[in-house]
Amino acid sequence: MRSVNSPAPAAPSPAPPPPPPPEHQRPPEHQRQAEHQRPPEHQRPAEPPPDQRFRPAPAPAPAAGAAQSPDTHAVRSTLAELEPVADKATSYFYALLFIRNPDLRALFPVAMDTQRDRLFKALLTAARHADDPAALTVYLSRLGRGHRKYGTRPEHYPAVGECLLAALARYAPATWNEATEAAWVRTYTAISQIMIDAAAEDEEQSPAWWQAEIVRHELRTPDIAVVTVRPDQPYPFLAGQYTTLETPWWPRVWRHYSFSAAPRPDGLLSFHVKAVPAGWVSGALVHRARPGDVLRLGPPAGSMIVDHSTDNGLLCLGGGTGIAPIKALVEDVAEHGRCRPVEVFYGARHAGDLYDIDTMLQLQRAHNWLSVRPVVSDGPTRGLSGELPAIVRQYGPWPAYDAYLSGPPGMIRSGVDTLVGIGIPSHRIRHDEIGGLMAAAPG
Ligand SMILES: Cc1cc2nc3c(=O)[nH]c(=O)nc-3n(C[C@H](O)[C@H](O)[C@H](O)COP(=O)(O)OP(=O)(O)OC[C@H]3O[C@@H](n4cnc5c(N)ncnc54)[C@H](O)[C@@H]3O)c2cc1C
Ligand code: HEM
Repeated sequence: MRSVNSPAPAAPSPAPPPPPPPEHQRPPEHQRQAEHQRPPEHQRPAEPPPDQRFRPAPAPAPAAGAAQSPDTHAVRSTLAELEPVADKATSYFYALLFIRNPDLRALFPVAMDTQRDRLFKALLTAARHADDPAALTVYLSRLGRGHRKYGTRPEHYPAVGECLLAALARYAPATWNEATEAAWVRTYTAISQIMIDAAAEDEEQSPAWWQAEIVRHELRTPDIAVVTVRPDQPYPFLAGQYTTLETPWWPRVWRHYSFSAAPRPDGLLSFHVKAVPAGWVSGALVHRARPGDVLRLGPPAGSMIVDHSTDNGLLCLGGGTGIAPIKALVEDVAEHGRCRPVEVFYGARHAGDLYDIDTMLQLQRAHNWLSVRPVVSDGPTRGLSGELPAIVRQYGPWPAYDAYLSGPPGMIRSGVDTLVGIGIPSHRIRHDEIGGLMAAAPG
């Protein structure tokens, strides 16, 4: 790769790295630990001395609302070429990252599964969205703050940038030239700087993570548990948000879980967790976790929060454990004391899966502005029968309601389509993130 600071002939390209750890394979515990302690097996490939390209130099930020800049054009050309071979480029990127920087391996989970490609995809996606700086800054700032829990330091960013560029040069050779490389350096520097700045700002006001002791563990069905934790420091969040969570059994494997209650005076936090088949974190939380176990929580995230500036009603669709943040929203409305109509449609495949229906019906009895309707898609029910979005459409058209959706990604997608179809403008529809900006990621 060439250095922007010292243009020179391309350095010898590193030997192709060995294949990365197999995906979807979970080695046994003892093997995982041994793997973790094993010294790096591979020789550091010949590489140019680390240069200063990615040092936070003032990078020209893309102008708001501007037409596609030359840098964005160059970056998108690379991405288009890369798209068909994105998997290979991702594997190469990580292998190179860990060979060149063995110390960084310890920041990542031992067995890297499907999450593996998210860092690389985010880099590419952010580059792709470089012409929408406002959205990009919100997204990257959150990402930068969230990276504190991984132990990411500002000095790690140039190392990642070097390997990203090496992967791009190798897998997008037709569009790669000096100008493209310079465009990527500027773009990556700008992206990194937003993440680094947001993390630095966050450092002054928040811990990188919270320790949280499990104080209650209730099994509601054979595979759904309500887990209540006490964080070691106050944990500020809003009803409807979620957090990332790491268990002691799967170090550095983080998953998202929604808060199932609005913030409460005792500071406790609860989650509804469904153990998915062969699920690493959910299985451990449901079947293994006990009071006294200590989890780690990342910062709160998510924009499915109540808009208290309007008197619109709330139309809530909760599928499966998606009822958890909906319950938190109901509590939030109750605490605000304004009687806005709240209509909850609580969906599950079978009637027996409506594990929190009693709590929801109790809330309905306590608040005359709340109505809760159970919806079952398969099998007998005394409630409504069918798919959640279709039932909600029948009860429509919901002209004076804001919509809130939480549940499996498929339910959210079809729910949003249905609601837009019956005339609820998309800015009045809020839901758990199912990819957000990432949805457009290549590969
Ligand atoms: C914003 C957000 C909020 C979330 N809130 C909650 C919540 O409150 N409660 C909750 O239980 N989950 C919630 N999830 C899902 C959660 O983050 C995990 O994805 C889930 O617990 C599975 O993680 P795992 O480590 O157990 O499974 P993994 O080890 O990641 O997956 C194991 C296998 O199961 C498959 N799999 C993953 N998810 C599912 C699924 N839902 N159904 C069937 N198979 C699956 C995978 O493809 C894989 O083959 C939320 C997700 C997001 C994005
Ligand atoms: C511009 C730079 C970067 C971008 C866009 C980026 C993006 C991402 C994204 C999207 C994820 C998925 C999980 C999440 O949302 O938090 C992730 C995970 C992660 N990133 Fe980054 N990242 C960047 C730089 C770095 C750097 C410099 C490091 C430090 C080595 C790093 C370490 C990690 C780790 C350890 C994970 C967790 C991986 C896992 O759970 O499997 N990232 N990154």
